Amino acid sequence: MIEQHKTYIDLVRNYFHFQQNVYGEEILLDKPVHLLFQTEKDRSEPGLSLIEEKVMQCSRCSLHKGVHKKVFGEGSKEAKLLIVGEAPGREEDLQGKPFVGKAGELLTKILKAIDFTRDEVYICNILKCRPPQNRDPDPQEIKMCFPFLEEQVSVIKPEIILALGRFAGQTLLNTQTSLARLRNEIHQYKGIPVFVTYHPAALLRDAKKKYDVWEDVQRLRKAYDNLVGDKPEWQPGKK
Ligand code: URA
Repeated sequence: MIEQHKTYIDLVRNYFHFQQNVYGEEILLDKPVHLLFQTEKDRSEPGLSLIEEKVMQCSRCSLHKGVHKKVFGEGSKEAKLLIVGEAPGREEDLQGKPFVGKAGELLTKILKAIDFTRDEVYICNILKCRPPQNRDPDPQEIKMCFPFLEEQVSVIKPEIILALGRFAGQTLLNTQTSLARLRNEIHQYKGIPVFVTYHPAALLRDAKKKYDVWEDVQRLRKAYDNLVGDKPEWQPGKK
């Protein structure tokens, strides 16, 4: 972010010098300011950069007051598989990146087990700010923050979504159905198939849930081959 702001400042300075040379003291703005000062990166993926900018400026709920860094999300902008978690934890809040703590290490292993790397997918959360002491998100916070995820989905256009944990599953599917029941079906969010499984943090507390997650992600991987089919067909246990 700091680097990006330095670039903006240089662009603004150059722009005003240019204007001054050509027009004297009169300033001519012929486009909205954010379009005038777009960087190369913005031009190649304007949608996500603009949403990220809105998230960084957001004060819709009080969570922004206590964070070190907001966590927008990261991964491939062309990802066909979108992973949605709950909210940043301590490590994510410090680094500004999703799933980089212990639960994140486990998520990376789960993805590897079905032959995905983190940079092939896109990873984000329902909330972009860490709730104090990692408490559960409250309904009002979810209501304020969810529109950002909706915008991310409409720009990334994933073909499959994996929701991790109760909050991600229930929010995406707009339901109060229990996680245990959500796991057993393939759902839809705006026509995109949604798989729901346990959050990796739940596996750290209860290792027995690993078998359930393994089943869930195998089903997801098979669906991926049928629906997307842009990777060598996957067979469990084969390298
Ligand atoms: N848990 C989440 O739900 N998201 C993260 O980014 C990290 C931990």
